[in-house]
Amino acid sequence: MAKKMKATCKSHPDIAFIKYWGKADPKTRIPQNNSISMGLSNLYSVCTIEFGPSFNQDTIEFLNEKIVKEEELQRIIMVLDRVRKLAKTNLRAKVVTKNSFPKGAGIASSGSGLSAVTMAACWALRLKLSRIELSKLARLASGTACRRIIDGFVEWHKGTNSNNSYSVQLFPPDYWQIADIVVIVAETMKKVRSTKGHSLADTSPFQKVRLKNIPAKIKAIKVAMKKKDFTVFGQILESEALNFHTIALTSQPPILYWEGTTMEIMKRVQEWRDQGLESYFTIDAGPTVHIICQPKDVQRLKKRLKTISGIQRLSVNYPSIGARVINQHLF
Ligand code: DP6
Repeated sequence: MAKKMKATCKSHPDIAFIKYWGKADPKTRIPQNNSISMGLSNLYSVCTIEFGPSFNQDTIEFLNEKIVKEEELQRIIMVLDRVRKLAKTNLRAKVVTKNSFPKGAGIASSGSGLSAVTMAACWALRLKLSRIELSKLARLASGTACRRIIDGFVEWHKGTNSNNSYSVQLFPPDYWQIADIVVIVAETMKKVRSTKGHSLADTSPFQKVRLKNIPAKIKAIKVAMKKKDFTVFGQILESEALNFHTIALTSQPPILYWEGTTMEIMKRVQEWRDQGLESYFTIDAGPTVHIICQPKDVQRLKKRLKTISGIQRLSVNYPSIGARVINQHLF
């Protein structure tokens, strides 16, 4: 009997220290600036895909999800179509996927989810692409997905076209043990999805200034990472988070991603830091706060976070590997 055309991939979301915000080409997801991130070890997406002649149409199932938008299904079908084209086949597929965390709350679920879909589809159809080729292919599904193919600390080189816009590794996961305490304050879907947010970036009068300053910021954070200078690293990433939210807040229409609890945590992190407990916050396109700290301070920070009301869930993460094939299929 022929071997099944089936594969399962696991991928982790990441947290960006220098954010991807604004696209030079929305169709191929060429970003306006380079970004830098780290994969999050304790959060993940898993996706199993099987192609076969017995499937009349593509079917997609999200486990543990109450609401799945048509747009999400379409994005997955577009990945299947791209991979089918590369593999020169018309076979339809069964897709089952799940996330270990809520979608759309400010954890890059499209990045982990769609990198897992891209890799699983390629493996199922026996397309053995290089990491760079996979990164480019994943980018077409979601910008952050191109970072999720790579292990550890990653830089996405914006490039100028679809062939030279992909991610590379800066440092492996075990290079630097820093922690990200992911603090989920609302388990609901954000109102403005990041794809829409990107398209509004140029309406902010400050986007031009932001883009002008990014190369120097990238250079500085890479030096801090190389030296493992946690203080300089933290100062850059926190100020970058506020810079990115300034663009969102001053877009037309403005986007305010924070909840009251988000702001409360931001204030407390700065206050605790003044008292000698060093950590820095960053926030993506949602209300979730990422507290970046050193492993020795995780327990103390967790204890202090218990005093803040409105927190739904905490997840402590360390640098992770990128997307990979696993043997535990979802069906
Ligand atoms: C705010 O990757 O979700 O998390 O390419 O349209 O899918 P699309 O956007 P997406 O952008 C998320 C951007 C961010 C910052 C970042 O992770 O760099």
